[in-house]
Amino acid sequence: MHIDIISVLPELLTSPFEHSIMKRARDKGLLQVAVHPLRKWAVNEYGQIDDYQYGGGAGMVMMCEPLAAAITELSANRKFDAIIYVTPDGKTLNQRMANTLSLKENLLIICGHYKGIDERIRQKYVTIEISIGDYVLSGGELAAAVLVDSIGRLLPGVLSDETSALTDSFQDNLLAPPVYTRPVDFEGMLVPDVLMSGNHAKIEEWRYEQALQRTKERRPDLMID
Ligand code: ADE
Repeated sequence: MHIDIISVLPELLTSPFEHSIMKRARDKGLLQVAVHPLRKWAVNEYGQIDDYQYGGGAGMVMMCEPLAAAITELSANRKFDAIIYVTPDGKTLNQRMANTLSLKENLLIICGHYKGIDERIRQKYVTIEISIGDYVLSGGELAAAVLVDSIGRLLPGVLSDETSALTDSFQDNLLAPPVYTRPVDFEGMLVPDVLMSGNHAKIEEWRYEQALQRTKERRPDLMID
């Protein structure tokens, strides 16, 4: 999979993909992430990419021309399956969306800043608008990093144990069951006997029950659809 990201703060997007699972995905050639500084397509020599908003009010708006030029140039190199704008007024990201996006080959993500991007760019180019939750970040970069991580870990071959993404929380609309490691006795708190029984059918049954109970208690909304 190839993901292009357009950003006014590309520095914010280096570290998230240089460690752990994202690094492995890139090292294995399963995921390429290219971050493009929007100022490359600025409208003047001062690097301008934003301007005052029509109608007045505080906050700048990211201009049409630099974004349109960036999208057009990047689209000439590859055919995007989706052009994503990360924004608090988008559709809230969930595991199902991450699963769907992980099946695509080429994605373009636009990070907003200030008051956001000019509405006409959204109308003309953007195909999906995604929020990572009901709160406002200072810019779209952290949201883009979350989105790429949630997609990248699902690409076949990225996780060493292929089944481990399948047992993540949300994959079957259930939260994950509790997990334990050594020691068996931590300050009097014991690991449940069943996990040390060696009976895999019983262990699976216990995990399912625990997942069900945890979901009912913490996120009953997940069990409705
Ligand atoms: N940009 C600012 N806040 C955001 C959010 N919650 N989700 C996606 N993009 C954002």
